Amino acid sequence: MRISPLPWLEPVIAHRGASGVAPENTLAAIRRAGELGARWVEVDLRRTASGPFVLMHDATLDRTTNGTGLVSETPCEAIAGLDAGGWFGSDFAGEPVPTLNAFMALCGELGLVANIEIKAEADADAVGYAAAKALLEGWPGTLPPPLISSDSPTLLRAVAKIAPDFPRGLIVTQVPSEAVLNERAWGCVSVHASDTFLTRAKTALLVASGYAVLVYTVNTPARARTLFGWGVDAIFTDHPEPARWQNG
Ligand code: G3P
Ligand code: MG
Repeated sequence: MRISPLPWLEPVIAHRGASGVAPENTLAAIRRAGELGARWVEVDLRRTASGPFVLMHDATLDRTTNGTGLVSETPCEAIAGLDAGGWFGSDFAGEPVPTLNAFMALCGELGLVANIEIKAEADADAVGYAAAKALLEGWPGTLPPPLISSDSPTLLRAVAKIAPDFPRGLIVTQVPSEAVLNERAWGCVSVHASDTFLTRAKTALLVASGYAVLVYTVNTPARARTLFGWGVDAIFTDHPEPARWQNG
């Protein structure tokens, strides 16, 4: 039995935007996902030193921008001036690091639903509270609520206190213990599992737990077919064009 349905969930979610064809976690990647036909996008959120949140996967700026250092130790104003596209290709040079507010506005403009993964190596409680407040203030009322995910139950509990109506998902890299799977305190509706550990038997355990099961990162139609056959509800992919998944 499903714990709580996500009726607006779709089976294909653009991972970090359409990150196979545009620089991850940029507005260009979000726009590209929409152009390709995706209705859901996943992004990674991090708190900057000055407080506002930006889209960024890594803890440091080094891999995906022309800056260096920790996101958490760099003011938002400095991060906003960095190039987050040049590393991916010259066509994207000058693409900025999006703020959370810019991302939310674009989702509203394009009608995209989001899974927002909140990353924090420290201060999970405070980061969760602050992110939830920012999301409550800025998430477009025209859209279904965002699905908030994290690998930190502490962070998810903080989000639940501030924004109880936003559904939440726990990111896992192994089948969680029964105690964790039975934990309802933070009201998760989904588990987001790494494809690297999934077998038929492990997937069956997750499906039987009653959570919606979302799997990252799946880039081949054959693997997607297998996972959907095992009862998986959705996949995160860098190549979200529906034709790839419908006919592959
Ligand atoms: O949220 C699913 C997936 O994005 C988690 O892994 O490392 O790509 O953020 P990662
Ligand atoms: Mg992510």
